[in-house]
Amino acid sequence: MNPTVIDPNYVRIFDTTLRDGEQSPGASLTSAEKLEIARALARLGVDVIEAGFPAASPDDAEGVRMIAEQVGNPMWGEGETTRRVPIICGLARANKQDIDAAWNAVKYAAHPRIHTFIATSPIHMRYKLRMDPEEVVERVKDMVAYARSLCEDVEFSPEDAGRSEPEFLYLVLSEAIKAGATTLNIPDTVGYTTPEEFGALIRNIIANVDGIEKVIVSVHCHNDLGLATANTLAGLRAGARQAEVTINGIGERAGNTSLEEVVMTLHTRRALFGLTTGIDTTQITRVSRMVSTYTGIPVQPNKAIVGANAFAHEAGIHQDGMLKHQETYEIMRPETVGLGRSKLVMGKHSGRHALRVHLEELGYKLSKEELDAAFQRYKELADKKKVITEADLEALVGDQVSRGEEFYTLDGLQVACGTMGMPTATVRLKGPDGQTHVRAAVGTGPVHATYCAIDAIVGVPNKLLEFNVHAVTEGIDALGEVTVRLQAEDPTLHERTSPQNGYTRVRTFGGYGADTDIIVASAKAYLAALNKLLAASGFSKDGGSSTPNERSQVGSRKEKNP
Ligand code: KIV
Ligand code: ZN
Repeated sequence: MNPTVIDPNYVRIFDTTLRDGEQSPGASLTSAEKLEIARALARLGVDVIEAGFPAASPDDAEGVRMIAEQVGNPMWGEGETTRRVPIICGLARANKQDIDAAWNAVKYAAHPRIHTFIATSPIHMRYKLRMDPEEVVERVKDMVAYARSLCEDVEFSPEDAGRSEPEFLYLVLSEAIKAGATTLNIPDTVGYTTPEEFGALIRNIIANVDGIEKVIVSVHCHNDLGLATANTLAGLRAGARQAEVTINGIGERAGNTSLEEVVMTLHTRRALFGLTTGIDTTQITRVSRMVSTYTGIPVQPNKAIVGANAFAHEAGIHQDGMLKHQETYEIMRPETVGLGRSKLVMGKHSGRHALRVHLEELGYKLSKEELDAAFQRYKELADKKKVITEADLEALVGDQVSRGEEFYTLDGLQVACGTMGMPTATVRLKGPDGQTHVRAAVGTGPVHATYCAIDAIVGVPNKLLEFNVHAVTEGIDALGEVTVRLQAEDPTLHERTSPQNGYTRVRTFGGYGADTDIIVASAKAYLAALNKLLAASGFSKDGGSSTPNERSQVGSRKEKNP
């Protein structure tokens, strides 16, 4: 956030895609993916990025530190020096260890924030915390003061505020302000309230909490009853000036309030709300696609703003009405959210520099090696495809970024399939030992055969949970995108317990691949997911640990058939 913002009608957008969003069942991002999403969020213009929960794991802490350093400082991208630098925030339970972990991760940012929380509802205090209300108040005083001794910007959340006793909530919040909190966030943790109730809660907090005029009031709603956006808007109308949101509304259970819905409602209904944000709405579609690709969580087609059908009248459904008057069925222009992006004026002969400039405009800052690889792939694509769009470029780079650490890479693939015989794939991979490995396998279809051949080389027992394929652009020469999600065959190997709510989940690994040949895209996506599974299992190229194909030569995949 720009700390000098004093416009009383400015709503700070606090994005928690990388923290609450990453707690979604099935979402699991590599550090490279988190960094890329954080960069895209900064370009989008969010005021605060909640980059993770540093006490949750060393990986989380490292991810937050990296984002603080690389996105939370003015030099996060060439040519970006005039852009606002977002606040980088880390979540912490109200205890010293968590607060220290959060501070140690965010302190590298130009504008760091510690966000500490403790539950205040009777049910949470009694059964989760096993603490008396008086103990909770003491903890709030001590831990907010401790966080403030480390960091000037401290956010406090009374978890499950939506089901807390109002008088107790006022007391806790006024103590948090006295102890130095600068933002008070009011979470409807279990998505229980209705818009009328939540609006009244915010109004009453503003009317009853001592010192409230010194802080920013924030709202954080979950979508269990489908009311997260409505509740957030009710909170903003009641005087809150920070909205906590995620891209595509991903998050615990039914998710969090979605950024695109709140921002576009404030934008489209400006006259009603009279509130502004710092979001560049033309970036919304791009960031939505990136988050969906990297998390492996598809966007439902009828999702407001970013679903494939959200602007379907563009495809001719209501065309007659549209021709007579554009606003017959249209309350927003697709260009406003960055849909229908222009075709690139980049030909087959465009150089590396032009590619770099275009990628930077799209928010991708690549290292020299990454740019070389992207350029190589761009040339290959330009040979096959007449018109290259921004969406093609994003697919091309997204595929590269989402790979993370690569133990095995595709070096060659040949498939025979059709109605006349058994689908057979021959796969050549480059392994962590620098050698090439070749295997052939038959399957029920060409993708199945390819995955069997890959398994025979990599040898990591796993369960394929999801396999999705779709075209990036229209036309017969379109790039195909494939996303897969898998988990280790032994689920106990990758369990993650959330320090917020104690839920244990089996970690899943997503992979993404793009190519004009969808079998090649499928192989790349599968390898990307397997590489992540290997990295999470502690394999390293130079760490001396045995590669999986040394431990088990032949994989089996009887259970899957994409
Ligand atoms: O939903 C919730 O209560 C939270 C808090 C940690 C803010 O995510
Ligand atoms: Zn939450």
